[in-house]
Amino acid sequence: MALLFKSSWDRADWWRAELLKRIPDLDFRVWPEVGDEAAIDYALVWKPKPGDLARYRNLKAVFSLGAGVDHLFADPTLPKVPICRLVDRALTRGMAEHVLTHVLRFHRNLPGYERQQRAFEWKGLPIKLPEERTVGVMGLGELGGAAAATLADFGFGVRGWSRTPKTIDGVESYAGGGALDAFLSKCEILVCLLPLTRATEGILNRNLFAKLPRAACLINAARGGHLLEEDLIPALDTGQLGGAALDVFRVEPLPRGHPYWTHPRILITPHVASVTDPRSSADLVADNIRRIDAGEAPLYAVDPAKGY
Ligand SMILES: NC(=O)c1ccc[n+]([C@@H]2O[C@H](COP(=O)([O-])OP(=O)(O)OC[C@H]3O[C@@H](n4cnc5c(N)ncnc54)[C@H](OP(=O)(O)O)[C@@H]3O)[C@@H](O)[C@H]2O)c1
Repeated sequence: MALLFKSSWDRADWWRAELLKRIPDLDFRVWPEVGDEAAIDYALVWKPKPGDLARYRNLKAVFSLGAGVDHLFADPTLPKVPICRLVDRALTRGMAEHVLTHVLRFHRNLPGYERQQRAFEWKGLPIKLPEERTVGVMGLGELGGAAAATLADFGFGVRGWSRTPKTIDGVESYAGGGALDAFLSKCEILVCLLPLTRATEGILNRNLFAKLPRAACLINAARGGHLLEEDLIPALDTGQLGGAALDVFRVEPLPRGHPYWTHPRILITPHVASVTDPRSSADLVADNIRRIDAGEAPLYAVDPAKGY
């Protein structure tokens, strides 16, 4: 069986080595050395160009190299085969670590101390206990659910928002559009871990910011498309938001002249909140190839109607 690998971000040699350990007879082809297009059974990809995948007419499945599949559904010619996202313990742990790091940074007011240091100012700022701090997580799936559970274990007051209700120890569940305002009303730190779909595009906007407590902080580790870019700086400059930690952007890399780079209340990381590691992620891809080969349904196939 032949698998086509295409990504300008992930390392083909690592993936080849890890997949061949699991499926020694796999014909692992790296784009653009595709060979006979009709022989390709599987595509393992990150951000293929629209139209790319339609060339492989005998595809049995498409595997995303990341947890998100928005980069695939942007293609109107996407083949009608199972589209599988990546779910992996290392990816989940990495995201929980990213979220905990940034929540603690805001919780302990490190941005405030960084500003004071630049002004040679020696002054203690107010401190709260974690249980006195409410953190809200938008999206309680594989990543958001694990991040919320980690924050709850740490002692924060945690609430989460998802489409359907969830039961996670220590996490107050809010479900559906009707519960969004109540959810937002107490979030001093808001974490976005939603998938990017038609329903969630631009959800982080001035109307939503206005429903948060004043000086709330935003952590966006989901997708740049969730944030209405022009609404962020006014919210920070008026004090409605106290700070933002952004890992994802509408255009990546973030263009050099973008005002986010130099804003004193924005911390930028270059889409590294959680990075796919083939040493563990290859398990699911290999498992799914075996399942499809045996006539079984693959794991973590997304619902095209929902887009995630
Ligand atoms: N920055 C990075 O390095 C990085 C790395 C990996 C992933 N990500 C991003 O993280 C996202 C989440 O990944 P995941 O694996 O946790 O996804 P997931 O398991 O599919 O979970 C998605 C969650 O969002 C909720 N949701 C979806 N649409 C909603 C809506 N319209 N209203 C309310 N809730 C909604 C879902 O609710 P239900 O459970 O009720 O369906 C679910 O709880 C990915 O799509 C990707 O964009 C970023």
